[in-house]
Amino acid sequence: MLAYLHIPFCDSKCHYCSFNSYTNMHDRVESYMQALQSSLEYQLQKYALKSGSIETLFIGGGTPSVAGAALYEPIFQTITPYLQDGAEITCEANPNSATKSWLSGMRNLGVNRLSFGVQSFNNKKLQQLNRAHNSQEAIKAIENAANIGFENISLDIIYDFQGDSKELIQSDLNLAFSLPINHISSYELTIEKATTFAKTPEVKSNQEQLGYYLRGLILKHEFKQYEVSNYGNYQSRHNLGYWQHKEYLGIGAGAVGYANKERYYPHSNIDNFIKDPIFSKSEPLSKQDIQTEKILLGLRSIVGVPQGILTKQMQERADILCNEGKLELQNGVYQNREFFLSDELSLFIMGTSG
Ligand SMILES: C[S@@+](CC[C@H](N)C(=O)[O-])C[C@H]1O[C@@H](n2cnc3c(N)ncnc32)[C@H](O)[C@@H]1O
Ligand code: SF4
Repeated sequence: MLAYLHIPFCDSKCHYCSFNSYTNMHDRVESYMQALQSSLEYQLQKYALKSGSIETLFIGGGTPSVAGAALYEPIFQTITPYLQDGAEITCEANPNSATKSWLSGMRNLGVNRLSFGVQSFNNKKLQQLNRAHNSQEAIKAIENAANIGFENISLDIIYDFQGDSKELIQSDLNLAFSLPINHISSYELTIEKATTFAKTPEVKSNQEQLGYYLRGLILKHEFKQYEVSNYGNYQSRHNLGYWQHKEYLGIGAGAVGYANKERYYPHSNIDNFIKDPIFSKSEPLSKQDIQTEKILLGLRSIVGVPQGILTKQMQERADILCNEGKLELQNGVYQNREFFLSDELSLFIMGTSG
C-alpha cells in the first residue's frame, strides 16, 4: 500500500495550474491538518492496515511547505508504525516557503525525499508563470536541504512554454545539475481549462517541442528516464508504485485513493473536508478499466505491460510493435523503448487508435 496526503494551500496560484489548491484559505491550515489526521486514522482502520504495510508516503499539493512542520507531528505519530522500515517519505516543497527550520523539522519527522517545484531558474519565466519564488530562492532552498542532510532531492521543470528556447532549457539544466539533486521531473506545459493561461488566448505552449532536446541534455548527466516525465539516478518508489497499479490511500481535499478495485474521492472543498473528513465518493473500476490503466501506465514507464493481461488480439498488435522495433518483449513483459510515444502505442495495442 502507498499513501498520498494532499495539502491544498498555495501562496500564489500559478497561471498554468489546475490542481486543487487555494491561496485565500490559510486561516484553515490548522483545522485542515486535524481533519487530515482524522481521515488518516479512519482509512487505516477501514482498510485494516497492519503495521509496516505502507511502502511509501507522498505529501503533495498544493504546497506542503505552507503548513509548519509541527502541524505534521500528530500525522507522523499516527502513520509511522504503519510505515515499512526504510519507507520512502517524499514531501513536495516550494522554494519560497521551504525555510531552513521547515526543512529540518520535516527531516526530523522522517521525510527522506524532497520534490521542489522549481519550474525554471529564469526569473522572467518564473514571473510569467506567476511563481511565488525567484531563481536565487530556489537555489538556496535546494542547497539548504542538502546541507540539512537530505540525500534525495528532485526538482520539477516546466518546458514548452512560449518563449522557451534551447538556450533557456540548457541554462536551466546547467543550473539544475550544479545542485545536489538526484532526480528531475520535467513536464511539458499543458494549458488546463479554467486556468489564467486558458483565459489568455495569446498564451500558448511552445510549438518547438523541446522535450527531445531537454531529454538529450538530462541523459548526458547519467540520469535514466524511467517514465515519460521522470529522470534520475534515484527512481521514486512512490511513482513506480502508481505505475505498477499498486493500491494507495488518498488523504485530503482533492486527494484520490485506490483500494479494493475502487477509486475513492474525499471532499475536494476544504471546508467540507474539515467538516466531514471521512466522507468519500467511490467509483468501482471494471476489469477493463484496470487493464486499460495498466497498459497506459505500463508503457509510459519502465514498468511495462505483462503479456498475460492482454487479450489475444492485443498481444498480436503488441507483437507487430515488437517487429517494428517499438516494443521489446522481455521475460513476458512488453517494454516500451520510446516513452514519448507511449500513448500512441497503447491506443494501437487496445485497438482504439485512428
Ligand atoms: C502538483 S504540482 C505541486 C508542486 C508544488 N506545489 C510547486 O508547484 O512548487 C507538481 C508539478 O506539476 C507541474 N504542473 C502543474 N500544472 C502543470 C501544467 N498545467 N503543465 C505542466 N506541468 C504542470 C509543475 O511542474 C508542478 O511542480
Ligand atoms: S503549481 Fe504548485 S504552487 Fe503553483 S498553484 Fe499549482 S500547486 Fe500551487
